[in-house]
Amino acid sequence: MADLPRRKFDCLVIGSGGGGLRAALQLAQAEATVAVVSKVFPTRSHTVAAQGGINAALGNVSPDNWHWHMYDTIKGGDYLCDQDAVEYMCRAASKLVYELEHAGVPFSRLDNGMIYQRPFGGQSQNFGGAQAARTCAAADRTGHAILHTLYQQNIRARTHFFDEFMAIDLVQDDEGFVLGAVVLEIETGEVMIIEAKTTLLATGGAGRIFRNNTNARINTGDGLAMALRVGIPLQDMEFFQFHPTGIAGKGMLISEATRGEGGYLLNKNGERFMEKYAPRAKDLASRDVVSRSIATEVHEGRGCGPNGDYALLKLDHLGADVIMKRLPGIRDLCLNFLHIDPVKEAIPVSPTAHYTMGGIPTNRQGQVVAPLGNRSEEPVPGLYAVGEAACVSVHGANRLGGNSLLDIVVFGRAAGNHINEFLQQNRYHRPFNPASAGRAVARLARWERTGDGETVAALRAEMQTEMDAHCGVFRTAKVLRAGLEKIRAIKARLPNVRLRDHSRVFNTARIEALELENLVEVALATIHSALAREESRGAHMRMDFPKRDDDKWLKHSLYFMANERIEFKPVRLRPMTVETFPPKERTY
Ligand code: FUM
Repeated sequence: MADLPRRKFDCLVIGSGGGGLRAALQLAQAEATVAVVSKVFPTRSHTVAAQGGINAALGNVSPDNWHWHMYDTIKGGDYLCDQDAVEYMCRAASKLVYELEHAGVPFSRLDNGMIYQRPFGGQSQNFGGAQAARTCAAADRTGHAILHTLYQQNIRARTHFFDEFMAIDLVQDDEGFVLGAVVLEIETGEVMIIEAKTTLLATGGAGRIFRNNTNARINTGDGLAMALRVGIPLQDMEFFQFHPTGIAGKGMLISEATRGEGGYLLNKNGERFMEKYAPRAKDLASRDVVSRSIATEVHEGRGCGPNGDYALLKLDHLGADVIMKRLPGIRDLCLNFLHIDPVKEAIPVSPTAHYTMGGIPTNRQGQVVAPLGNRSEEPVPGLYAVGEAACVSVHGANRLGGNSLLDIVVFGRAAGNHINEFLQQNRYHRPFNPASAGRAVARLARWERTGDGETVAALRAEMQTEMDAHCGVFRTAKVLRAGLEKIRAIKARLPNVRLRDHSRVFNTARIEALELENLVEVALATIHSALAREESRGAHMRMDFPKRDDDKWLKHSLYFMANERIEFKPVRLRPMTVETFPPKERTY
């Protein structure tokens, strides 16, 4: 252990999506030394897959105001959002979008040259009035445009990249201060300690706990599981977003931008069924509402296709020009994966696991905050988290489309600023005892031998199938409990998975085993949290508790890995400067 090579930086950023890169840029531009560790080449991080856009009340297309955006976000989150964090995000949005524009993001343009904005779900003018158009878009490849720009700016600012390295576990001293992480180079299998004055987890979500999902293969909840292993709880993990329009049976994302541009959903009778479930917003209701509506149509026998298990998304009436100009990536996806052209034919779609609303609890500065041991909630020294890995909590029980790209740039920047201040006051590295890397080294050692059970791929597929079956759009205690037992049994079989082909343990197999270990912990957190919350709110629909219950359940859940325990903490209902938006009945 003492022999492991060590590199030293001011800040270690784990994950190179938009959140990690926005934080790294803030740091590198302030002359801090920054290491970004990523399992993939940075521009392949999952931010690249974000399609529809980034929300900001620029008012280029419809009258708009950050306060209306704040209201929509809190209503969209079914009142579980921390309102101070939402105010902070919505107030910052316009500045951050202009910053991206000046950094080089090639936003689509209106005829007058201003940034193009499209309507997205849950957006309104004047606190629940007419539909707003708040989502700033680069065609339907907005995440791609933002990620490439942030990467190029980081290269210019001399951020140091460790491409194709996987973080194994955090390194912590006896006082609980996080000192960096142990990382593994995927190609060579070599292990290294990256020592840092501060560490930022920006590892994205964990959509791969489900089989039918929109997520990249890398989205295995690595940061979430690393946090759990050092005793940090995960917040609000019962709230997993099912995007209404994944390609049916395959999962790839068909952006909400399709409905923002005027597309709509049909059942097998050719009925525009969203008119029934959301009479005002129709197809642009919030995602939880649209996903449940599709699932209800299917359950009640009005689904399309030979098995009656999907809805159709109709775009042909938009015309070829709009589709080619505003939705070119969607058309490519349909041509490549379905062999259909949406200019002529409707797209088969169904709800698909998309976004982890819960995550590592943080404050607005990105500091990880947790009750550890006997202490009440306080910052974990040296540790930050941003983006989908974090729960700040601006998305509450259901995220609005277009708020995830906003979340990563707003809180990436805020975390970068806070770390910079910390670095001004803490100029030296803390003493480093190699024994503090023990947890990570032991974890790696466990995977140096192979078992003789099933392959990692087979066990992972089984876990994902069980999660689809037991923790989907509609939930009950009975089904969740059965799912919990299945996932526990899978966890018990995990140490015996087979990694070997002939006599070698390949790094790729080892990496997948490490990832599966992370996924299983996140799956357990998700099911436990879903079982604990005996009400329906946002994306968490309990058929056995079909109503929202603010008296009992207007609180955040916290899941701790030790003893698979759940605690709760209050929602911060007080915004920074404006009045609270009190919980109301939520209709669209
Ligand atoms: O539908 C979409 O384009 C996805 C956007 C988002 O998740 O924010």
